[in-house]
Amino acid sequence: MNTLAIRHVLLDAQRTGLERLDAQMLLLLALGRNPNDRAWLLAHDDSLLTPDQATRYAQTCERRLRGEPLAYIAGHKEFFGLDLQVDARVLVPRPDTETLVQWALDTLEVTAAGTSRPLRVLDLGTGSGAIALAIQRSQPATDTWATDASADALAVARTNAMALGLPITFREGRWWNAVPGERFHLAVSNPPYIEPDDPHLQRLTHEPPSALVAGPDGLTDLRDLVLGAPSHLHPEGWLLVEHGHDQAGRVRALFRQAGFANVSTRNDIAGIERCTGGQWLEKP
Ligand SMILES: C[S@@+](CC[C@H](N)C(=O)[O-])C[C@H]1O[C@@H](n2cnc3c(N)ncnc32)[C@H](O)[C@@H]1O
Repeated sequence: MNTLAIRHVLLDAQRTGLERLDAQMLLLLALGRNPNDRAWLLAHDDSLLTPDQATRYAQTCERRLRGEPLAYIAGHKEFFGLDLQVDARVLVPRPDTETLVQWALDTLEVTAAGTSRPLRVLDLGTGSGAIALAIQRSQPATDTWATDASADALAVARTNAMALGLPITFREGRWWNAVPGERFHLAVSNPPYIEPDDPHLQRLTHEPPSALVAGPDGLTDLRDLVLGAPSHLHPEGWLLVEHGHDQAGRVRALFRQAGFANVSTRNDIAGIERCTGGQWLEKP
C-alpha cells in the first residue's frame, strides 16, 4: 500500500467490501490510537499514514475480510462496562449475554435480602470470564466461582480477573463435575446451544466449536446443567441459563420436568426470548 491520507485509505477499504465502521476501527488500531476515537479520524482525515502503519492496517483488513471477529484482531471486547482481553481461545462475549448478567444481579438483590452474606455465585462455562467478572464487579460482596472444561479458556479468564483485580475462584472441569460437593445461591451459564447443522455456524468459524455446538438438538449441555443443578444449589437457589432464540419453550420444559419452581424467561434487547431460569425450592 502507498503512503496515503486517511480519507483515501478509508475510501479504498470500502471498495474492498470492508464496512466503514470496521475500517475506521482497524485504522485507529494501526495508528496506535483508541479504536473508538472515530472523531479523531474525522478531524485528521488529511493526515498521512507511515509505511509501517499502512502495512499494519492492510494486514488487519485482510484478517477482517476473512471473517475474523474484530474483537480478536483488537484483542479486546467491552462487556457490561468491562474491558476484557479476548482471543481465539474464547467466545467473543455478546451483548445478548448482558441480559443474563442483569437477571443474575436482580436475583442477587432479592436473595441478599433474606440470606446471610456472602452469596455464592457460580458461572459455568465462563470462557473469557465475562459473566463472572461482570457479576463480581457489580456485587463485590459475592463469592463468585467460575468453571470451564477448556484449560485455554480458563487461562484467558484468569488473565482478565487479574487485570481487573477481581477475586474469582476458578475450577476446570465438565459442568457440575468441576465443583464437587459445592453449593451456590445462584448458578448462571451461557453454554453451547447451537445445533451442528445450523447455517449460522458458517459465520462463526473463527470461534472455538466447543463454545458453540451442543449435541444433535442443541440442548445437550442445557439438559446437563438443569439436571445437575439441584445437588449444587442451596434451597431456594436459582439457575439462570442463556439459550437460542427458538429454544425457550423446550428449556422451560426441562426446568419444570426437573422439578424447578418459578420458571420464567427473559427477553434480550431485541425482544427475543434469550434466558430461562428457575428456583430450586426443595430442601436437600
Ligand atoms: C457459549 S461459550 C460462553 C462463554 C462465556 N460464558 C460468555 O458468555 O461469553 C460456552 C463455554 O462453555 C465451555 N464449555 C463447553 N462445554 C463445556 C462443558 N462440558 N463443561 C464446562 N464448560 C464447557 C466452553 O469452553 C465455552 O467457554
